[in-house]
Amino acid sequence: MKGARASNKTQPRVIALLNQKGGVGKTTSTANLGAAFALAGLRTLVVDLDPQSNLSLHFGHEPAPDQPTVRDLFMNPEIAASELIREARENLWFIPSDTELALVEGELALQPNMQHILAERLASSMPSFDVVLLDCPPSLGVLTVNALTLADDVIVPTQAQYLALRGLEKLLETVLLVQRALNANLTVAGVLLCMHESQSGHGKAVVHEMESYFEKYRGSGLPWQDAEVLRPAVRRNIKLAEAPSFGQTIFDYAPTCAGAADYRALAEAIRARWKPVQARERLAATDGTAAS
Ligand SMILES: Nc1ncnc2c1ncn2[C@@H]1O[C@H](COP(=O)(O)OP(=O)(O)OP(=O)(O)O)[C@@H](O)[C@H]1O
Ligand SMILES: [Mg+2]
Repeated sequence: MKGARASNKTQPRVIALLNQKGGVGKTTSTANLGAAFALAGLRTLVVDLDPQSNLSLHFGHEPAPDQPTVRDLFMNPEIAASELIREARENLWFIPSDTELALVEGELALQPNMQHILAERLASSMPSFDVVLLDCPPSLGVLTVNALTLADDVIVPTQAQYLALRGLEKLLETVLLVQRALNANLTVAGVLLCMHESQSGHGKAVVHEMESYFEKYRGSGLPWQDAEVLRPAVRRNIKLAEAPSFGQTIFDYAPTCAGAADYRALAEAIRARWKPVQARERLAATDGTAAS
């Protein structure tokens, strides 16, 4: 890992971007929120947990057959996590994925303690970062459970469509199972509206319904008791779709476009939600296993 220095800090804020529905904006948001945090001076690590390997494209990374990837994090303990972390930009590092990660789901099912592998393997690298973003695959399988076992916050990229609400309920069930069994720290920060069209009447109604849904759970003690519809929504902006084909984040490709403004403001809003960082001792104090 070049350039990422260890500091006296305790642990980074870890955010899983998760939605089991495909094509909702998880990877676009991970890459560009990561870039926005890095530009704001936070040492940021983004981890590609999706065998589609789209995240790396945003940083101009071409997969090479002999390079270690996140698959090695799960399957090859002899390769140190620090060897997988690549520098993408100033303050920004990433761990690439590869298509063979798809095989890991099956292979992991045979391993004991399989939900904790990501948390354990990244533990020694964590103090080098202020923020870690996990780009999840569009499923609620074992890779996603590994992400949830490590995360502090879940952000759910979505569109403001009726069916998204149904999917959200299913996702929250999984979050609750993980929070109860594997990671008591896990909370849901909220939904992130991507490709948003604010003029749509249907969209407005769905946003209202999402807000009422979260409102019902205030004070409930459930992981989504403080969740909200995060603002600003990320507007549909073609530049966000074009940037990865040039190996660029939105801040490289079109720093003054609406997409860049939205992700910059969103990164600030997410940061503003963080309570003063409390030392999360679970990784160190529980000899590498997540808090129960
Ligand atoms: N705000 C936006 N405006 C326009 N296009 C967008 C926007 N956000 C994402 N896209 C495009 O939508 C498509 C899906 O986005 P993305 O790959 O980020 O979704 P995903 O949830 O990661 O998908 P998957 O589930 O397949 O991993 C991509 O082509 C992306 O470029
Ligand atoms: Mg993706």
